[in-house]
Amino acid sequence: MYTPKYVAQHNTRQSCWVIINNQVYDVTSFIDEHPGGPAAILQYAGKNATAVFAATHPQGTLEELPKESNLGPVQYSPGDRQPKPKPSGPTAAATAGDKIASNTKPHLHTIQNLTEFETVAKATLAPNAWAYYSSAADTLQSLHKNLTDWSKITLRPRVLRNVSKVSLRRNIMGHGSSLPIFIAPTARAKLGHPDGELCLVRAAARHNIVYAASSYSSVSHADIASEIEKERVENLGVRYGQGALAFQLYLPHDKEKVGREIIAKAKRLGYTALIVTVDTPVLGKREADERFKAELEVEMFDEQGEKVPRVSEPGGDEPVLRGYHSSALEWDDIPWIREAWGSGPLIIKGVQTAEDALKAAEAGVDAIYLSNHGGRQLDYAPSSILTLLEINVFCPEVLRKVDVHLDGGVRRGTDVIKALCLGASGVGLGRPFLYALSGYGTEGVDKALQILSDEIETGLRLMGIVDLSELDPSFVNPAELERDLYPVVRTYDLYN
Ligand code: LAC
Repeated sequence: MYTPKYVAQHNTRQSCWVIINNQVYDVTSFIDEHPGGPAAILQYAGKNATAVFAATHPQGTLEELPKESNLGPVQYSPGDRQPKPKPSGPTAAATAGDKIASNTKPHLHTIQNLTEFETVAKATLAPNAWAYYSSAADTLQSLHKNLTDWSKITLRPRVLRNVSKVSLRRNIMGHGSSLPIFIAPTARAKLGHPDGELCLVRAAARHNIVYAASSYSSVSHADIASEIEKERVENLGVRYGQGALAFQLYLPHDKEKVGREIIAKAKRLGYTALIVTVDTPVLGKREADERFKAELEVEMFDEQGEKVPRVSEPGGDEPVLRGYHSSALEWDDIPWIREAWGSGPLIIKGVQTAEDALKAAEAGVDAIYLSNHGGRQLDYAPSSILTLLEINVFCPEVLRKVDVHLDGGVRRGTDVIKALCLGASGVGLGRPFLYALSGYGTEGVDKALQILSDEIETGLRLMGIVDLSELDPSFVNPAELERDLYPVVRTYDLYN
């Protein structure tokens, strides 16, 4: 009989049981593999984790646990009181968002730019959600450069051109997008809003752009896929073609076997482009997020009178430090990924140098995606706009061979225009949409897209442009950013 009292005795790292949906699970062997960190599980050891689990995991997650970890139903007796989860858990995000009196949060209608969504999110998100969303690697240099490098490029507008009609259309990842932007993959949207990723899908459909769903979506990939259909048919009155879904893939440890299964599932569910992230052989050291988890661990181990264990020993046979997915991905894997995915758009995300851009253009992919992962991976990695400039200077033929997308620090329509001038096909934004959904749900993301669309349209008219195909490097002055280019990279080095 798994009474709550009995379950409560299994509240240590050595024997960790939790109750989810009235079932008892032994998750002891899973603690160190948990992508959200061990503390997120251990704080519910011996307790009922139903609410927090539902708020942060897609449906179907429990089915992925080994069968034997489900020990059976919990047996409540009439006098039992179900323990309440601590408010510091991720459900607090939703609670905090709901609790903010609408009179303290600015009315959505008054929001003028994307940065304002961040201000609202910072003030309203639960601490764990803010730590996860906003954190970046080490000294935060990459994060800051992502934001500031855009200002090292100025614009060169042309005048006296009739700009009464302008088109913002662009083909992105095989989709006839109404805007030259897309929603970049970001994990765990339910930390910000109970509807999670559904907010992003609905807004992508409304604006007819691509939404790239993360491997770590907190809504199941099947539910994301059915939501785009629902939004099209029920709200927009169209049957297909409004918005599109890309699937962001992390290759797991068993890269080929499990990778093929995930790719097959993405195809079956109707995702039309595959984005393989290649900048994460290990996760970066995001200190705000790690500190938050460490504080929980200290609290928990203190409660249990145990010593906080060391994280890991370097190298050797230890599991790879921060190695949540495959650390063994290499160029030679691209052919089987292509074969498994088929002929649809295949994109590799996380290219950060001209050398790799050249290599990627030869690797049989349709597009490369310049990104330093929102500054969350390698600190001091270049901003994607600097990498795009590097490609322009040292190997511009890449831009003719494959599409080049990018993300990182994009906050303004003029940032988008600058990237397009230097040859980008599509420009992605991640955090701004998470912040928008955290404060205002689907309507927030919708509004963020309206703001961007408006800024791009106005910017183009003021540049004397009526169609994106007219944009080229002559419309920008990147001289200040060019000073940051790596002087040793020369055409000679790239081709030898
Ligand atoms: C992150 C991973 C999950 O940046 O993409 O948090």
